[in-house]
Amino acid sequence: MIVLGSNSEVAQAFVEECLAKGERFPTVYLLSSHPETTAKFAAHIQVKFLQNSEIIPLDLMKTIHYKTLENIDSDVLFCATGYLGLSTEDGLYDNENTERIIGVNYAKLVPVLNFFAKKMESKRTGTMMVLSSVAGERGRQSNFIYGSAKAGLTAYLSGLRNYMFDKKVRVMTVKPGFMDTKMTEGLPSNPALTASPKKAAQIIYKAFKSQKNVVYVLPIWAIVMLIIRNIPEFIFKKLKL
Ligand SMILES: NC(=O)c1ccc[n+]([C@@H]2O[C@H](COP(=O)([O-])OP(=O)(O)OC[C@H]3O[C@@H](n4cnc5c(N)ncnc54)[C@H](OP(=O)(O)O)[C@@H]3O)[C@@H](O)[C@H]2O)c1
Repeated sequence: MIVLGSNSEVAQAFVEECLAKGERFPTVYLLSSHPETTAKFAAHIQVKFLQNSEIIPLDLMKTIHYKTLENIDSDVLFCATGYLGLSTEDGLYDNENTERIIGVNYAKLVPVLNFFAKKMESKRTGTMMVLSSVAGERGRQSNFIYGSAKAGLTAYLSGLRNYMFDKKVRVMTVKPGFMDTKMTEGLPSNPALTASPKKAAQIIYKAFKSQKNVVYVLPIWAIVMLIIRNIPEFIFKKLKL
């Protein structure tokens, strides 16, 4: 399995869920911008599941040397890469913040996803699971730079799924609502709308096995977003969302 954003608790919970369900991979490739932190997880899956892994440094905001990724090959890719960045209030006019949000969530990520998509296309097999966000469904004043990058990612995944259909490569878009991870530490949350990394991993694994195209974490977010998408613009623009 190829894992992008390996230090995400959701990515690690997903790998654990797969291994706990009895899946084994020749190698789990853990791509990470903080490889020294990833080492602990690599040791954990080695000890608990006898699962071999390899840590590959990958910082999307630095030059990517595709040669170092050439030998990475698997039929399963899980991408939890993401960057929330500063809120609109604190960061809208901070160009470095804006570039990082757009880069990590979309602009710098898509070429890497394409790199692995091409490998799967040539083998005519594989599944790509990529975490986007409900934030991409409608721009809200509180975080619309992040939302717009996720909207781009969601559209990319939709197109890729369509392009890959007759090439036997599956593409699953994962739309988390709110998950209890380091990304959301300190942010106000509603328990009924919040998934733990373990719960998120279970939902994603089930969707992977049942070959879903799009999955919400948690399912209630499908209803929440249906409502949000349908609020008329003349009302929506006045809301403090
Ligand atoms: N938490 C939520 O409520 C929530 C809601 C909606 C969507 N999401 C999405 O779900 C995914 C997982 O989120 P999470 O909550 O687990 O967030 P997280 O803990 O911040 O994980 C995101 C991971 O992205 C990787 N990353 C960040 N900057 C990078 C860079 N410059 N280059 C390469 N990789 C980089 C990091 O992994 P490495 O350190 O291993 O590189 C980081 O651990 C993300 O795509 C996020 O946008 C989360």
